[in-house]
This record gives sequence, structure tokens and C-alpha cells, in this order.
Amino acid sequence: MEKMMTLKTFLFTYLFRMMCACLVLLNSGCDEKQSASNRRNILIMGTSGDLPPFEFYKTAENKNQMVGFDIELAERISQYLGRELQVKDIDFSAIIPALQAGRIDFAMAGITASKERKKTVDFSPVYYVTANVLLTIEKSDFYKMKDFKGKKIAVQLGSTQEQFARFWTSQKPGLEIIALNRIGDIVQELKAKRIDGAILEESTAYAYVRNNPNTFDITQLESHQGGMAIAFPKNSPLVKEFERALQHLRDIGYVDKLVEKWFGAPDRL
Ligand code: ARG
Repeated sequence: MEKMMTLKTFLFTYLFRMMCACLVLLNSGCDEKQSASNRRNILIMGTSGDLPPFEFYKTAENKNQMVGFDIELAERISQYLGRELQVKDIDFSAIIPALQAGRIDFAMAGITASKERKKTVDFSPVYYVTANVLLTIEKSDFYKMKDFKGKKIAVQLGSTQEQFARFWTSQKPGLEIIALNRIGDIVQELKAKRIDGAILEESTAYAYVRNNPNTFDITQLESHQGGMAIAFPKNSPLVKEFERALQHLRDIGYVDKLVEKWFGAPDRL
């Protein structure tokens, strides 16, 4: 009798354990397969944390804390939608592929809603308009040069600045374009005088000028950079939800306040 009980208990425990193990396995399998957008209550945002004042790390020591206009706006939108925000820092050129693969639910990275990109991803209405500038070392006469042989300008890989630079330099024989992954590296290269200039978003260039007094000069370029918008995988149901949230945040004056906080005044929207 006692033996029977032990056998029963053993079988029961064994079966129970097996069931638990199966459940755990099933669950973890599901997690991996879930696309970013299926994870309930969590919104995964892709960004490239190198574009002050849109998204950047406040200090070198505080590497985990990304701040900026895009981050705050994304947080507020997620809060309005009752979802938790997770931010993934990836290279700018990898953002659109990540959206297409469903690894992120949306992207905010000062992304220009260009015609070309609209073929592969969906965009929210434009939330900020900016321009391109040329950043050079202070008092360099680069902009006025006639001969560009051996001169180099840098841009972020995959950015609209890269596109613009290709067009701009087509009239400047000899000028070489270097495309780098991170804007911080571009600025370092310029500081070290290994390159002669960089094409950046206006507000980003001003942020670097403010942080490095007496180092850089800014020249306005004749290029309309266009509007920045939130990007989504094609046909994502989030487009409508975000539109609603953005409209609400505009209506209550939150967006203007945020523009004022990060860009000085609400004159560019
Ligand atoms: N507006 C430009 C573009 O869409 C540059 C954006 C770069 N963003 C960044 N977070 N580094 O191509």
C-alpha cells in the first residue's frame, strides 16, 4: 500500500513537473515569436541617441538616461495610450530596416518624412520642421573655398543630410563625403580636424556649438530639410492611435510647451 502511494506520488509529481516545463517552453517560444507590436501594453521605440536636442545622453557618465524632445514626446504619447514605453538605441541607418522587420513598434529619431521613405514606412503628421547647416571649425574658410581637392565633409550614414551632401558636393569637384554612423563621432572628427565640415540638422549643430564654445562656426545651407515625423511599419494600427494622441497633446498646449523647452520657442512647428 505504502509502495503504491509512493509510486502514485512519484508519477503525479513527475507529470506535474513535465507539464510545467512544457508550459515554460511554450511561453518562451511565444515570446520570441511575438512581433514588437503584439507585446501588449509595451511600445518599443527605435531611436538613434545622438541627435541633441531630439535624443541624446545627458552626460557621458549617465549613459543609461536618454533625454530630449523625441523621448519626452514619446513618453507622453505612450502614457496617453496607456502603454509602457521602451526605448532602443540603434544606429540611424538601421531604424527603417528594424521597423520593416517588426523589431520595433515605431521610431522617433528626428526622422524626415521623405517621399522615398514613405514607400517603405508610414508616418504620423509632421511634428517639427528644421533646416540643414554646415558645421565647420571656427574661422575656417572652407565655405568660401574654390578648390576642394583633399577636403572632406561628414554626414550621418543613411540620413537625408547624406542625400543632400551628395547633391551639394556634385558641384564641388574633389570634395569627399564621409558617412559615419554616429553624429558624436562626426563632431569628434571635426574637432580633431580630420574632416573639414559636417552637414547637420540646424538645432543639433547649435547644441554642439553651445557645448563647445569658440570651437565651431555654422553656415546656413540653401536646403529645406522638411518635416520630422514618427515612423511606423507599413499599415501599423498605431498610426491612427498616435495621430489621436498627438492631436490631443497639441490641443492641450503640451507640444508647444515641449518645443519651447527644447528648442527655445514654438516658431518652427
Ligand atoms: N532628419 C534626418 C533624417 O531623417 C537626420 C535624422 C538623424 N537622426 C538621429 N537621431 N541621428 O535623415
